[in-house]
Amino acid sequence: MNDATPRATTADASMSRTARASIMPLRVEDVSFDAGGKRLVDHVSFELAAGPRTFILGPNGAGKSLTLRLCHGLLTPSTGRVVWEGASPNEDPLKRQAMVFQRPVLLRRTVAQNIDYALKLHNVPPADRPGVVDDVLNRTGLARFAKSPARHLSGGEQQKLALARAWATKPEVLFLDEPTASLDPAATHAVENIIDTMHGEGTRIVMTTHDLAQAKRHADEVIFIYAGRVLEKTPADEFFSSPRSGEAAAFLEGELRW
Ligand SMILES: Nc1ncnc2c1ncn2[C@@H]1O[C@H](COP(=O)(O)OP(=O)(O)OP(=O)(O)O)[C@@H](O)[C@H]1O
Ligand SMILES: [Mg+2]
Repeated sequence: MNDATPRATTADASMSRTARASIMPLRVEDVSFDAGGKRLVDHVSFELAAGPRTFILGPNGAGKSLTLRLCHGLLTPSTGRVVWEGASPNEDPLKRQAMVFQRPVLLRRTVAQNIDYALKLHNVPPADRPGVVDDVLNRTGLARFAKSPARHLSGGEQQKLALARAWATKPEVLFLDEPTASLDPAATHAVENIIDTMHGEGTRIVMTTHDLAQAKRHADEVIFIYAGRVLEKTPADEFFSSPRSGEAAAFLEGELRW
């Protein structure tokens, strides 16, 4: 599975990321987000260039999921803006990115139909879709569930399906919100392999996790969020050996104490 690539078709070759200019970099410019009378994301600014894997770390309630949703365009900033520098004015950058949630959002359809529908939304012609669907299901070990209702899958299987669905659309950027939080070690390993493979194929990975060993294994850089603010954006090695902020040091120590 590690070196797997969904089969290229004429249709998706024409929409592959290599065929077009990148939508990156992503610029988050002084973004705040308010809800329920509270400022939950507080003047956050950072830029993500193509390439490295970014892990967003921080304690519960820090604003990691909100930040991912703001980046992905699922939430509108209360102030500031999120800019995809490379996107042309007449395209929807949402079509070039995907997001995988901790609790996958699956359609009340079969496993195969969930992927087929994502391909349809990406304008892949009907004749090309079955090949891509079979391919990603095989490569994620889900082929035997192709005709099962997606909502009957276990949590780990649903997580793999969410990734398979994202993989099929060849996103330029993939946001993942705690994608392995409820998975057993084997499923975690499988999901990490898929993410690694997508990274190897050029998909920009931006993810959150509370699994610090996982972050150490896979992160190239860390954005540390605390109380709605970005306290640092640091190369991963440096973050884990000598975090710049006292809050991050305490966070890492607290995690170690557990
Ligand atoms: N729609 C909303 N209305 C009010 N408060 C909200 C809303 N959405 C999120 N929050 C609050 O914003 C804060 C940040 O939420 P967020 O989900 O981003 O945290 P997180 O860093 O992802 O935490 P966790 O590690 O637990 O997933 C939390 O205190 C949460 O309760
Ligand atoms: Mg969260």
